[in-house]
Amino acid sequence: MAKVPVQFTLNGSEKAEFIESGTTLLHALRDKIGDTSPKGGCHQGTCGACSVIIDGELRLSCLMLAETCSGADIQTAAGLAEGGMLHPLQRAFLDAFATQCGFCTPGMIIAAKVLLDHTPNPSREDVVEALSGNICRCTGYEPIIQAVLAAARANSQNAA
Ligand code: FES
Ligand code: FES
Repeated sequence: MAKVPVQFTLNGSEKAEFIESGTTLLHALRDKIGDTSPKGGCHQGTCGACSVIIDGELRLSCLMLAETCSGADIQTAAGLAEGGMLHPLQRAFLDAFATQCGFCTPGMIIAAKVLLDHTPNPSREDVVEALSGNICRCTGYEPIIQAVLAAARANSQNAA
């Protein structure tokens, strides 16, 4: 299959690769670039495990072709920690015991980050709505909702 050049920013670093035309962004990130934080669950847009942020918006990397992402600014869960410090959402998930097997966790955290970027003080309903595209088979969701609300509270206290 023909290879096409793909160039984008991933978690602040420029990436340039030749990738087989038709490769999903999920496979390109995981298998070509080595960022395994987006998970492949359903591969059909229903589980949210593959969620990434592209140009500030929540996207499902299993539904996107890598070649359509040239020039984009892509963020994944692997890029959220800074200077060896966990992102407040990552810390909140740990503190709330909001992860068990962890397979859904990167997608949940990415969906939650997009929510908090747009809505810093969300209601519980906002959180439930924002996470409605992400499936978890382990935690029963309540710890996840509580983690996102706790991260929002921590953010607003830090901003005060
Ligand atoms: S793997 Fe993309 S939504 Fe499930
Ligand atoms: S923690 Fe296992 S699927 Fe969510």
